[in-house]
Amino acid sequence: MKQIWWKNAVGYQIYPRSFQDSNNDGIGDLQGVIQRLDYLKDLGIDFIWMSPFYKSPLDDNGYDISDYQDILEDFGTLEDFDQLLKEIHKRNMKLLIDLVLNHTSDEHPWFIESRSSKSNPKRDWYIWRDGKNGTEPNNWESIFGGSAWEYDEKTDQYFLHVFSRRQPDLNWENKEVRKALFNMVNWWIDKGVDGFRIDAISHIKKRPGLPDMPNPEGKRYVSSFDMHMNQQGIQEFLQQFKDETYGKHDHILTVGEANGVSVHDAHHWVGKNGKMDMLFQFEHIDLWDYESDQGMDIIGVKQALTRWQKGLEKDGWNALYIENHDKPRIISSWGNEKEYWRESATSLATMYFLMKGTPFIYQGQEIGMTNGYYDSIQEYDDVAAINFYNEKKAEGMSNEEILFILGKTSRDNSRTPMQWSNEKNAGFSTSKPWIKINKNYVDINVENQLNDENSILNYYKKLIQIKKKHQIFLDGSYDLLLENDKQIFAYKRSLDGQTALIITNLSNENALWTSEDGNTVSREELLLSNYHVEPHEGTESINLKPFEARVYIINKT
Ligand code: GLC
Ligand code: CA
Repeated sequence: MKQIWWKNAVGYQIYPRSFQDSNNDGIGDLQGVIQRLDYLKDLGIDFIWMSPFYKSPLDDNGYDISDYQDILEDFGTLEDFDQLLKEIHKRNMKLLIDLVLNHTSDEHPWFIESRSSKSNPKRDWYIWRDGKNGTEPNNWESIFGGSAWEYDEKTDQYFLHVFSRRQPDLNWENKEVRKALFNMVNWWIDKGVDGFRIDAISHIKKRPGLPDMPNPEGKRYVSSFDMHMNQQGIQEFLQQFKDETYGKHDHILTVGEANGVSVHDAHHWVGKNGKMDMLFQFEHIDLWDYESDQGMDIIGVKQALTRWQKGLEKDGWNALYIENHDKPRIISSWGNEKEYWRESATSLATMYFLMKGTPFIYQGQEIGMTNGYYDSIQEYDDVAAINFYNEKKAEGMSNEEILFILGKTSRDNSRTPMQWSNEKNAGFSTSKPWIKINKNYVDINVENQLNDENSILNYYKKLIQIKKKHQIFLDGSYDLLLENDKQIFAYKRSLDGQTALIITNLSNENALWTSEDGNTVSREELLLSNYHVEPHEGTESINLKPFEARVYIINKT
């Protein structure tokens, strides 16, 4: 029987480079994570997903792996890893590691062999093609900008890289490649990890023949997701992957990063006939548009999340999240970090946390960390940000304009060091951190918030507690309320005659909530709120303040 330990669990994502530095070289590490496990336990966390800590030249901050079975010196050693796993288990928590299977680093020995000659036995482990008319084999654009092909002088061919040019794509069509990857995954299972977050997994299958993208505008390179994302035939790869690795182990939790998977295909991915337990879908998070002055597209987000809630209602399970290491901070995009910092952080938290599914918190989200807003391109680290800068510069965009856009969109915004206290470098390290700390750490930090009953951190604690305590948040059905309201995101969960009402104003203005079914709510039924709520009788309407959130539980009498 499959052990389903993860439905009533809360996950926490650690970006190890920025979490806690134990030896003061300015870089977070595994021993640093050990130092903070009690903090996570106290918060109510059940399992950790840790971003890559493997050997890597760090072109994409560790998502470019040069040895899957060893630890980058910056982070520690395999002994440190074993100790970390033991310490996590000792506290009754679990660990998911990040599996990057679509590509390796160009410094991985497999790739070094593959590029050494056309006749090397590992040549076919990557995707090599001849050029066409003196240029790239096709017009695909890389997700990080520029061509998806890199020319290799030695053998006069190009290799494919959907991500950075230092992340060559593995050729999953080659069965030796699959076998080598599966062996590696089994090695980690034998080590005792509890599960995997599976990186970029929707990209492993490429369109046969690698055809050009249609190019009506005559661009040099064309966004090529349609050729390498969720392609026909991917399910056979996933099935084999499951059967030969985690499918043999009932306790392993798998969460796939599934860009481009819609709720219509979701049943191939999760549920009875699925290959994984949960997916990180992108539909709500992709609605962030920095160019819109409107901030959050509330109706769009409601529709996207509701589609997934309803779509997986009978079969499957949702991973719930609003932040990760690839997105700017949520308060800086969807919230209001200046006027309603605390309110918008807690209202957004309430909105997603009490839906049906397993919630994830990204490090620092629980204290309302904000975007980094760097003053110059030198302060950025992310390969995607730097490529973007160079590309726009070449197109003639001004420095100010590019920095403005990066301030709103760059992945580095969420990669700044964790703000533990108002000591030097936020208690992250006594040395200069690898990436600049957000100046606001003197105000926004864990220590301050532990001592403040009304802090964002203590609100998250309460959310975690109620989520686990009330069966209705685990099993209750989900129904969207006030579908067309442009300010309020409200829904109800129902179970055995009980109803939970989750009401969140996600706007900067007051908003009026009105019951659609004529049922009333009273102060006694209030379970959680992010403003002080005066006693009130049963009412059919509530005046909500900016970013006000309330949760009521109503028992049928
Ligand atoms: C995933 C990761 C991202 C990385 C990319 C390539 O999207 O979350 O950080 O850059 O895959 O591995
Ligand atoms: Ca360190």
